[in-house]
Amino acid sequence: MTNRFTVSTVVNPIAFPPGGAVSSGIVGIEGRPVCPLTGPLLPGCPSTNGAATAANIPVTSAARSFSFTGAAVADRRKIVDIANCKKCHDGAKHGDTVVPRLSLHGANRNENLLLCVICHNANQTDIPFRASGPEVSIDFKRMIHSIHAGGFRKTPLQIVGFQGTLFDFSHVRFPAKLRNCTACHVGASYALPISPKALGSTIDTRSTQATATALRTVDVDPANDSKITPAAASCSGCHDSSEVQRHMVRTGGASFGTQQQNIVSGVTERCVNCHGPGKKEDVRKVHEIGR
Ligand code: HEC
Ligand code: HEC
Ligand code: HEC
Ligand code: HEC
Ligand code: HEC
Repeated sequence: MTNRFTVSTVVNPIAFPPGGAVSSGIVGIEGRPVCPLTGPLLPGCPSTNGAATAANIPVTSAARSFSFTGAAVADRRKIVDIANCKKCHDGAKHGDTVVPRLSLHGANRNENLLLCVICHNANQTDIPFRASGPEVSIDFKRMIHSIHAGGFRKTPLQIVGFQGTLFDFSHVRFPAKLRNCTACHVGASYALPISPKALGSTIDTRSTQATATALRTVDVDPANDSKITPAAASCSGCHDSSEVQRHMVRTGGASFGTQQQNIVSGVTERCVNCHGPGKKEDVRKVHEIGR
């Protein structure tokens, strides 16, 4: 590439949250070089009959945790491993499908899951471009389960993406046993009890939606959001039937957005009583892991 630049120090122009930030944050770098359409053909750029063709070149994104306070960095807990994802996401055929490398958002965000979860956090939905219908959570734990559970879910996963493009993932067929949580997860990160650090997934931000004539108003206060409690949010990414949802609410004490910010209003899930380690419906046992 001809354009090179070096960044040694970046000063954050925005003050940390009021009250003072505690613990750690994540900073990431994303982006991609673009092959120009005119001028000489640069090394690595595609060509058509000798003339340069525009192309976005995916470059592995970078992300790292840092400490706000100068105390030791608290790394985010590791739940899944990109190496597991890449066993399928390698641009080759698995089952009936060519599984693309994990290069998303116009080759801007590539093969770094710590970068993905900066945005694909518990509070994020597809509200930015959604003009109608209920918001869909894009919390990583829920979205990634839902994407791969095509053929198992009762309802299609439909996310409104960049500039209103509709992404329907109901065609996806997992080219392995979907119940094998360890295809993606590390250790027992899939089992219950869920980490106390896991937050419920927002399904309503209280923002108004975009219309043809008016832009939406974005409500940025997470305290008034409607959420699904954390374990129910994870499990129901795959188990999405209304029958199982009723089970999670009645037997498990889960909430599906009927209470705002139900984490702070004291909703406690009881899933671990029956689906916890050694219990009758142990998550490991029911998914036949380790057999
Ligand atoms: C056993 C194989 C397999 C594993 C393991 C796997 N995936 Fe996938 N994934 C697929 C298939 C198949 C698709 C659908 C591809 C298609 O139809 O284009 C897919 C689709 C996706 C998509 C949507 C892609 C797009 O371009 O819209 C994302 C995002 C994704 N996977 C993320 C992940 C992450 C993150 C992991 C690891 C935590 C992972 N996958 C592990 C097989 C797998
Ligand atoms: C800077 C924020 C940001 C980062 C980083 C990010 N995403 Fe997204 N992503 C979004 C938003 C916001 C949406 C919802 C659609 C929209 O508003 O564009 C989305 C939507 C998606 C979708 C739904 C289909 C689509 O393309 O809209 C997939 C799949 C996805 N992201 C995967 C990933 C993966 C995998 C990574 C990491 C490699 C990642 N994203 C990193 C913000 C981000
Ligand atoms: C295709 C990959 C994939 C498969 C298969 C998968 N998961 Fe996940 N799971 C994820 C991703 C991605 C996350 C979010 C990771 C993150 O936030 O860093 C997640 C998060 C979770 C969490 C929340 C953990 C936490 O600490 O926040 C639970 C619980 C969970 N999964 C349960 C399961 C169970 C049970 C199975 C098997 C029946 C399963 N998962 C199969 C990709 C997968
Ligand atoms: C990645 C998708 C996925 C996730 C996430 C997931 N499951 Fe499953 N689950 C499955 C599949 C697939 C089966 C096997 C269904 C079958 O064989 O018909 C299954 C079976 C079960 C069964 C046995 C029920 C039956 O009909 O055989 C129970 C109980 C169960 N899951 C509970 C959970 C709990 C609790 C969680 C969350 C901690 C969870 N699952 C998360 C995919 C998932
Ligand atoms: C009092 C015990 C108990 C509690 C508490 C409980 N479950 Fe269950 N759950 C069960 C039993 C029993 C089954 C049926 C297992 C089967 O069919 O093999 C089940 C089935 C499930 C299934 C699979 C349903 C299917 O057929 O696809 C999911 C998913 C599930 N539970 C999630 C949860 C979640 C999430 C919570 C907490 C919010 C929870 N459960 C709380 C006992 C419990």
